[in-house]
Amino acid sequence: MTATREPSIHGSDLLRLVGADTKVPLVTGGTRRYVNLDYAASAPALEAVHDAVEELLGWYSSVHRGAGFKSRASTAAYEGAREAIHRFVNARDDDAVIITRNTTDSINLMAGVLPEGTHVICFAGEHHANLLPWKRIGVRYLPIPETPEEMLDVLETTLRDLPHCPDPHLVALTGASNVTGEMWPLADIARVAHANGARLLVDAAQLAPHAPIDMARDGIDYLALSGHKLYAPYGAGALIGERDWLNAGDPFLRGGGAVKLVTVDETLWAELPDRQEAGSPNVIGAVALGVACDTLREAGMERVHAEEAALLTYARERLAAVEGFEHYRIWPAEHPRVGLLTFNLRGIQYDLLAAVLSAEYGIGIRHGCFCAHPLMMRLLRVSDEEATRLLDETRAGHHERLPGAARMSLGLGSSRADVDALADALTAIAEHGPRWTYAVADETDEYEPNPDPRPLPALRMRMVEHPHGHGESA
Ligand code: ALA
Repeated sequence: MTATREPSIHGSDLLRLVGADTKVPLVTGGTRRYVNLDYAASAPALEAVHDAVEELLGWYSSVHRGAGFKSRASTAAYEGAREAIHRFVNARDDDAVIITRNTTDSINLMAGVLPEGTHVICFAGEHHANLLPWKRIGVRYLPIPETPEEMLDVLETTLRDLPHCPDPHLVALTGASNVTGEMWPLADIARVAHANGARLLVDAAQLAPHAPIDMARDGIDYLALSGHKLYAPYGAGALIGERDWLNAGDPFLRGGGAVKLVTVDETLWAELPDRQEAGSPNVIGAVALGVACDTLREAGMERVHAEEAALLTYARERLAAVEGFEHYRIWPAEHPRVGLLTFNLRGIQYDLLAAVLSAEYGIGIRHGCFCAHPLMMRLLRVSDEEATRLLDETRAGHHERLPGAARMSLGLGSSRADVDALADALTAIAEHGPRWTYAVADETDEYEPNPDPRPLPALRMRMVEHPHGHGESA
């Protein structure tokens, strides 16, 4: 009997994406299907999410505060989203789900409510969202580890050597790096953290769209994620985790909805989740995120991950064969990772490469330092002296071109054809260079087509042309 192969979940009707067939203009004339290899920055909406949002708009009203029937419907949809997010990450029954704007917002919230004196431990290769919020309260940055084993050893030694005072400890690290894609061994990290009296917070912005998450099984105490990476780009994210720290003391944001009673002299704060959700919430964003979570759960995140891993293997093979292709990673090549590759092509500046791929080939990637400057300086072997010089020049207001790289990233709509398009384009660029002219734009200090004859699409909203994407935005 021949085994029948399960149909691919990527590209299935359940996981169809809005705008998957969009055509974009090329500087050389004509149009081509947009090859989206930039999921790690922001992912398109699932059609299921878009349809649910459209449906909800007809029932949209205030949540929690209105007696109107539409308020009841909107409130139920908002609370349903909370439940969907809780299930998606398999949180413990008692864990709170706080709706936020995104991962950055979630981690800032966490940093804003930590108990007094908490020791925060973080590795220096984190995305700025999980690097900078802790600076406000004091943090110990550990060096970027060469291997997962070294990471666990250093973490254990560091935690063991912390003063054994009653002050709490928090380990904050990524679930999957947005620069190398390497997935961090969360269950092992949680074991080390807990054995040494620390809690674990995971930045799951890049992990959640690409691999299953199990907070209860792996012992993850707090988890932050973003809707715009999870096929729900409507401005909501979430912080999920243990209640006690989130429910003690003043909330991160103060305002309406976060209180039980206010007098001129006193404020009685509400319980979770309201306590940490002051102001009118982003109902549409939360519901979009909830629908994305339910849809992905139905599809099966194990399958999503397995298919993306197979496509990544294909991409690594095809791209490695391109003359001058240099791939960046920290951990061994065989370590599990989510579907992204950060690279340079010898002989061409990373921002010029991104501009050429867009203008001549209709391929969208991200370039720059990916909001992870310390990690990029390490990957690009920028010396401490050079980093200090860059810092001084930038501080003095001089235009400094930062070192950087290009990144291609995969998602639900990605296919071998997309990888082939990138590999073929890189091969052509390596052989012949650009076919168009490019100049460094004053506003962004980055390469752009010159001239750029591509008209923007005629959309119905007001559009103000902005200098092309700068590598360090977002
Ligand atoms: N930090 C996001 C990225 O890696 C925006 O692209």
